[in-house]
Amino acid sequence: MCGMVLHTFFLLTTVLIHRSSAAPADAHHGSAHDAAVTGVPDRHSAVAFPPTDHPVDHNSASAAAAAGHADPHAAASAGHTDNSGHGASAANKGHGGGAALPQPSPATAASHDKIEQWGYETIASSKDELTPDHWSDFYPKCSGPRQSPIEIVSHSAMIDNTLEPLEFFSYDRQPVATNWTVTNNGHAIQFSGKFAHEPELRHGSLGANYRFAQFHFHWGKSDARGSEHVVDGKRFPLELHLVHRKITETAGDAGRDSTGYSIVGVLFEVANETETPNIHMQALTEAVQLGIYPTVQLRTIPNLNLIDLIPEHQSYYRYLGSLTTPPCHESVVWNILKTPLKMTEAQLNVFRSLHRHAGITTDEDLLLDNYRPIQKQNGRVVRFCPDKYDQAHALIPDIGLSRSAARNIKPGASEHVSFAAFLLLTIAYFSPTKSV
Ligand SMILES: *[C@@H]1O[C@H](CO)[C@@H](O)[C@H](O)[C@H]1NC(C)=O
Ligand SMILES: *[C@@H]1O[C@H](CO)[C@@H](O)[C@H](O)[C@H]1NC(C)=O
Repeated sequence: MCGMVLHTFFLLTTVLIHRSSAAPADAHHGSAHDAAVTGVPDRHSAVAFPPTDHPVDHNSASAAAAAGHADPHAAASAGHTDNSGHGASAANKGHGGGAALPQPSPATAASHDKIEQWGYETIASSKDELTPDHWSDFYPKCSGPRQSPIEIVSHSAMIDNTLEPLEFFSYDRQPVATNWTVTNNGHAIQFSGKFAHEPELRHGSLGANYRFAQFHFHWGKSDARGSEHVVDGKRFPLELHLVHRKITETAGDAGRDSTGYSIVGVLFEVANETETPNIHMQALTEAVQLGIYPTVQLRTIPNLNLIDLIPEHQSYYRYLGSLTTPPCHESVVWNILKTPLKMTEAQLNVFRSLHRHAGITTDEDLLLDNYRPIQKQNGRVVRFCPDKYDQAHALIPDIGLSRSAARNIKPGASEHVSFAAFLLLTIAYFSPTKSV
């Protein structure tokens, strides 16, 4: 439905209108009994960052499980102050990575404690951490054929008539008591929660519904880098990953399923200083500020909403890839939204003030440039699903509409106007007086 062709336009219009009305604000009740996925930490438990049990069982569910039993204070000290804490940390899995995932078996972790710790190019340095080119030494899947991230070249992406728009189902819901679990795992800052009505990623030709598990970020030391995906040669200063797991699968299942996860990537660019700051980004960065040091904390954050992290326009690039952190499972259906969100320099600086280790306040310890290098595409096809706004605008130049008229067709509240214009233009396009 995405890359519709003109002769299917009328049908498309009908379908999109229906989808649009059923989309993000849908109040349908989600499954309420999968608390394990986004379990609320038990503040009374003494177990912090428990070792992971086996390689394929560390997805967001285990991350959540880790969070579920972590004492915030114990976690702060256990997570990253020694070699064993990190590589084997259950919190890892959710972390930084494309999705919170699996870690090696306890036996492996124990015997390779030191060397199996992984890090990023510019901050792994002398810390006995594996740089990305060595992740595969201990996480073999990291050298597989369908790794992420990749560079997306927009003019090479295939507009796919069969792709459906994504639906962010129950994304307007908040966790119980607006309590979020805020996890700084030393690789990224991550948020998860226990929902009475669980948010899901639906439609998008995914073939299944995917339950929200957690979201986390990758960022750079400067504005010129930080995102994992690169679009037309451009790196963005920040990339958000909203991780979802197939609702029918356990964490272990998902790691073995080539489509076990679906992650939505949202790119951020620096806001023009003359623009009105986005209040939602202020709420987000205030929440990020809570995780300056490695910890797992349960915090009440009333202003943090998933729906605010999704751009108004939802054209997306689709490809099959992997988690972007060890163990790099090749189990991810990626959806990179074309439209970036904006954040001010000051807000970006909040991410740049996070630390990798508890109790270390030096600049060398700052968590920066936590993005994996671009991976080989290996013949993979990137498909593009333009939303209705992009579809309408793509046609305007072809029909010679003036620039001022084009500007008057605004997204959002004026979607219906845009649609009407699109409709009329299409009719004009096919009228006998026009030659196609
Ligand atoms: C900021 O946005 C305004 C209005 O959109 C534009 O006129 C101005 O050139 C922009 N400034 C920068 C530095 O991009
Ligand atoms: C929410 O979190 C607060 C701590 O911020 C805690 O005291 C409260 O019990 C939590 N409520 C629920 C329902 O989890």
